[in-house]
Amino acid sequence: MLKFQALPEGKHGFELLHLSPVIGTEVLGIDLAEPTSDKVIRWLRELLVKRKVIFFRDQDISKQQHVDFARRFGDLEVHPFTVNNEDYPEVIHLDNDREHPPFINIWHSDVTWRRNPSLGSVLRAVDVPAVGGDTLFANMEAAYDALDEPTRRQIDKLVAVHDNEGFLLGMKANGASDDAIEEKRKQFPPSTHPVVRTHPESGKKSLYVNAAFTRNIKDMSDRDSQGLLRKLFQTASNPDIQCRFRWRKNSFAFWDNRGAQHYATADYWPLTRKMERVTIVGDRPH
Ligand code: SIN
Repeated sequence: MLKFQALPEGKHGFELLHLSPVIGTEVLGIDLAEPTSDKVIRWLRELLVKRKVIFFRDQDISKQQHVDFARRFGDLEVHPFTVNNEDYPEVIHLDNDREHPPFINIWHSDVTWRRNPSLGSVLRAVDVPAVGGDTLFANMEAAYDALDEPTRRQIDKLVAVHDNEGFLLGMKANGASDDAIEEKRKQFPPSTHPVVRTHPESGKKSLYVNAAFTRNIKDMSDRDSQGLLRKLFQTASNPDIQCRFRWRKNSFAFWDNRGAQHYATADYWPLTRKMERVTIVGDRPH
């Protein structure tokens, strides 16, 4: 049973609107076009760690301002497999329409196949359908807490392998040569991370395996590994640990990839949905 936690209150003149008891808070009254003080950035960071995903509405800012805001929280990555903006390579274009059906309707945390996966991602809605295309977020600390004690004991010291085979398959489907695919595979080999990671800022444990990128658990038979992973992936689907965000143009979501997973619904196809994401580099999970 999840324990109801006290919800943080607004500060620095901003009100908070909580989307669910365990995850997701909209910050009201903020203007990301204005210079943001270090004090406010520190407070947003604390809020992010507590609430796992924070939202800002009606932010008509430039790509440069989007990048500048994200950079206040850490270094930014250039994703090696996505469509990146020519002038701002840190900005990923996630565009879907009739010819490009959505496919991120799978629970995941971003780039866990990297040795140092992401701290967080800042996603902007550029063009969204009137209805549909919501994003769901799950608190993976709550997912860990909700596991029974024997399972927690079983997984506490396990290590899992994460890879980017999905992206490599995408390259193949788009006509990339075998040599080009092999080169990428060499450049970005699978990474191993603890199945249960400890948040570097809060010290809380969270479940750190995801259906998109975690391939197997080390030193376990394939059958046992697949069975356990299926059970652990399933935990993100528990509505008690989730919130759901309905986008409008110029809404922003900033999530903590270290303690949350997300799922982009694919219910709007063949309509158009265009998003831009900037991804902040994180530490090595432990
Ligand atoms: C993502 O998975 O990074 C994108 C989520 C979304 O488009 O809602």
